[in-house]
Amino acid sequence: MPSMVIVGAQWGDEGKGKLTDYLTNKADVVVRYQGGNNAGHTVEVDDQQYKLQLIPSGILHADKLNIIGNGVVIDPEAFLGEIKKLHDRDIPTSNLKISDRAHIILPYHKKIDELSEIRRGSNDIGTTKKGIGPAYMDKTERIGIRVCDLMKKDVFAERLKQNIEIKNQYLKEIFGFEGYSYDEVLEKYLQYAEQLRPYVADTSVLVYNSIKANKRVLFEGAQGTLLDLDYGTYPYVTSSHPVAGGVCVGAGIGPSMIQKAVGVVKAYTTRVGKGPFPTELHDSTGELIRQKGFEFGTVTGRARRCGWFDAVIVRYAARISGLTGLAITKLDTIAGFDKVKICVGYKINNEIIRDFPASIEDLAECEPIYEEFNGWEDVSNITEYKKLPTNLIRYLERIEELCETRISILSVGPKRDQTIVIEEF
Ligand code: GDP
Ligand code: IMO
Ligand code: MG
Repeated sequence: MPSMVIVGAQWGDEGKGKLTDYLTNKADVVVRYQGGNNAGHTVEVDDQQYKLQLIPSGILHADKLNIIGNGVVIDPEAFLGEIKKLHDRDIPTSNLKISDRAHIILPYHKKIDELSEIRRGSNDIGTTKKGIGPAYMDKTERIGIRVCDLMKKDVFAERLKQNIEIKNQYLKEIFGFEGYSYDEVLEKYLQYAEQLRPYVADTSVLVYNSIKANKRVLFEGAQGTLLDLDYGTYPYVTSSHPVAGGVCVGAGIGPSMIQKAVGVVKAYTTRVGKGPFPTELHDSTGELIRQKGFEFGTVTGRARRCGWFDAVIVRYAARISGLTGLAITKLDTIAGFDKVKICVGYKINNEIIRDFPASIEDLAECEPIYEEFNGWEDVSNITEYKKLPTNLIRYLERIEELCETRISILSVGPKRDQTIVIEEF
């Protein structure tokens, strides 16, 4: 397996964690390149379930290097909490490095996230309230604080002083919130700094050297294409770049160093948070998918909205990320249905469109055009492609055709051995 990106090709929660853990077996290095602990990646190994947020899903393999790249925003408290949970379960983390260029999340970021959402009222985005957006805002405003700053006591003390003054003023004037004590935040973060120090590295060098040494590097996307800041359903998006292009900036390598990009998609579609969703099912079928697929958010516990597979979206994701393959998960969840549907295009103002529109107002007007397929029975124990039910193979072949992308991997359950590899990496 050369270097490969695992990209969410819908609205997140496609099963990137499971896929990353599975493919780590063949990789040497696993890298997160964007997002933060807004992500929730569930990995199941034997009878154990692990919920990873900031730490790459390769961490369960003790002999592989795991990296949190500069494009990620790191909440030190959340990071250390995750480390502790892993240690409590005897998972070592000496194979984990975090970028000295990554920006850190401070208490005011989380508070601003939370209060801004309240202030938006019914126009809220439905964020995870982890402070992700406000931390990326500071990064682009050029007032963010990075891991390398946190490592230098004086530099951190000064940057924090400048920031906390502005943030407290903002919190007070806009939200009537008292703000934070400089001394308390300083003391707390200086303690975090010492706990973080052993993990800190110039991770771009590590990634570059690994690729140069012909090591196999896996880039684990968080969120999904439709949550991308530029390509998603703006403003109902996250504040980073989950698309394959995000790897170059978020891990610090050039595009010529990435050979493959696999888009992970569910056999249907889900979304948490607000925003238009053309194939959403508001009926008992949507509820059945939610119950069968246990579609409740890992991070916030919110019920995920469910709908049929939307080929317009996945074709769009394939184009934006130059996908070389698709990984289709949760084929077991929609087993047992009499009929299943695929959205092949949208109808808007009596016109048929097949390219995903920029305007969410247009998207909200789009009526899905469906093709219907006969369903299939339980597939959760099938381990070979040729043993899959004919109806399912028809469904998959149509997806390949519509999305103009080959399927390289299938998933029929949350566990490692519930995976069917079609194209070896
Ligand atoms: P991620 O954010 O993309 O990593 O996805 P999540 O972990 O948030 O959500 C995917 C959920 O589906 C997790 O609970 C996985 O354990 C589970 N899962 C992954 N693949 C399959 C599959 O093929 N079948 C079933 N039934 N569950 C799966
Ligand atoms: P994984 O990696 C699904 C959604 C939130 C909200 C929007 C903005 O598990 O696929 P944010 O807190 O990022 O500012 O919220 O993005 N969101 C996700 N939805 N999966 C995720 O991650 C998500 N991370 C953020 O629900 O709609
Ligand atoms: Mg998730």
